[in-house]
Amino acid sequence: MLGWDYSREFKCLANQRITDRLVRGSRDLNVVVIGTGYVGLVTGAVFADLGNDVVCVDKDSLKIEDLERGKMPIFEPGLEEMVKRNHADARLHFTTELKSAVQGGEVLFIAVPTPSKGDGGSDLSAVREVATGIARAMNGYKVVVNKSTVPVGTGDLVRRIISEHKVWSGEFDVVSNPEFLREGSAIQDTLRPDRIVIGAPSKSVAMTLLELYAPLERPMLITDVESAEIIKYASNCFLAARISFINLVADLCEQAGADVLQVAKGMGYDQRIGPQFLDAGLGFGGSCFPKDLESLIHTMRKYSIDPVLLEAAWKINQERVPRFFRKMTAVLGELEGKTIALLGLAFKPNTDDIRKAKAMELLKLLLDSGATVRAYDPQAMPRARELYPAVQYCDSVYEAATGADALVVATEWNEFRHMNLRRIRDVMRVPILFDPRNIYYSERYQKMGFVYHGMGRKAANSVQ
Ligand code: UDX
Repeated sequence: MLGWDYSREFKCLANQRITDRLVRGSRDLNVVVIGTGYVGLVTGAVFADLGNDVVCVDKDSLKIEDLERGKMPIFEPGLEEMVKRNHADARLHFTTELKSAVQGGEVLFIAVPTPSKGDGGSDLSAVREVATGIARAMNGYKVVVNKSTVPVGTGDLVRRIISEHKVWSGEFDVVSNPEFLREGSAIQDTLRPDRIVIGAPSKSVAMTLLELYAPLERPMLITDVESAEIIKYASNCFLAARISFINLVADLCEQAGADVLQVAKGMGYDQRIGPQFLDAGLGFGGSCFPKDLESLIHTMRKYSIDPVLLEAAWKINQERVPRFFRKMTAVLGELEGKTIALLGLAFKPNTDDIRKAKAMELLKLLLDSGATVRAYDPQAMPRARELYPAVQYCDSVYEAATGADALVVATEWNEFRHMNLRRIRDVMRVPILFDPRNIYYSERYQKMGFVYHGMGRKAANSVQ
């Protein structure tokens, strides 16, 4: 086990190396990032911004052409500006040519998708393919870094694949450096991460990554590869379980006449608990938490460990939207022929990502029940339209609300917090407000004449 704290033993050494580089006037590192999805593109852009020479590789030539032209494949605040600036300054390059990129790189990041397989395990075919490609192209010593979220043991797998296929007779090393960025704040999270985890086979290998990250001046933990791999899953699944926990408490609050917002606040003041990730509502979605939870359950079973706690978190999360939908039908009765205004389609604010979005799950239930849905989301409508063309997509919250029998705020975009609810009320057919993300002060809107329904709060229109 490496298990040492960068800040104590290594800061001096790292600073010395950086000073040496500056004194020698040496170049920054040549970084290659393979995969230009969320993680890869943001990582590449940030490393370029720190002054490194970065090549981003993707086998999707259309995506690479778009990036060359400054067109982003995703919406992420600050990303476009950072990519364009570094591309214009010739620090950030895009290519489909893995071989030449690998040959010119010193540190190679693997940031390809690892989607869920049917059984909950992770599909590692893209990682395997890239590892094989690296092996065939390698012409000198490289540090190969797993940035994708991969089950414990994948670092070892990558090492074996490269050893088996490499044509060059020299050495290489494999490192695990999991990413903790959140969509919607990915640039900030990468520039100012709570911690940087480096799982390396030796201290000297860890130094390369340490040098790369040193300008960020953030806490670094250098450990072994397996621990780094588990840190990523354990962190995400802990947060997912926390959300399920507060959702379970929310159900109790609703039945017992309490308010989960107050309960979460009271819990969060305890420094051992903290206030974050205690927002009850529709549960967690997106491309990470559901997949990572499934994957950790799968891994635990593989090691004959009963993942009972994780399974409960999963089950609670699965029930959130159906439970909320039952509440809607209890209030509105038969939904066939009714018009529902749905605000928010993305899995969370500040993204256009609708993967495993709770809002999309709700949309499907509404459509299946025969309701007419008038939807609005600041970013996610183009993606949603591809899946559900029958929905009436609107240009504003007010247009969506016009003639509606009820309004549901399914994603807590800031724009929805500040909308003019008086105007909304006046254009709706019936002023019923469902607030499953609990973003409104119920009392205020009840006074305005809305029938208000949150999640884990007292029943509609009771005095709060
Ligand atoms: C997550 C992790 O936070 C990040 O560290 C990791 O690298 C990738 O996965 P992300 O999926 O982008 O990031 O979003 P996050 O902000 O963590 O939210 C995940 C889901 O949980 C969203 O659906 C969100 O609405 C939900 N959530 C979050 C809650 O329901 N309640 C909360 O209190 C917090």
